[in-house]
Amino acid sequence: MPIIHFLKNRPPMTVDSDANLMSSLLEKGVPVASSCRGDGVCCKCLIEVVAGNQNLSPETERELFLREKYAFGKSARVSCQVKVLNDITIDASYW
Ligand code: FES
Repeated sequence: MPIIHFLKNRPPMTVDSDANLMSSLLEKGVPVASSCRGDGVCCKCLIEVVAGNQNLSPETERELFLREKYAFGKSARVSCQVKVLNDITIDASYW
């Protein structure tokens, strides 16, 4: 099962393979900014992937659209649009 490591302030957590990143974090009580609740509209759920971006599902059409619209960095992913396939290390400015 994939392990999500946090760059700071939180212990690692295990998630089911293919689990949605944003849902997994929320289920374990880790706050994720959002105003569209995972509909892939607001782009507030961006998470910085410090290591293991290759262990996340490829970008969907929706994520590519948001990336173009909001021009966020390559290491950031739209967490509501991403599945966790293997171990990653992540961060958010508000953690
Ligand atoms: S929660 Fe709005 S785009 Fe992810």
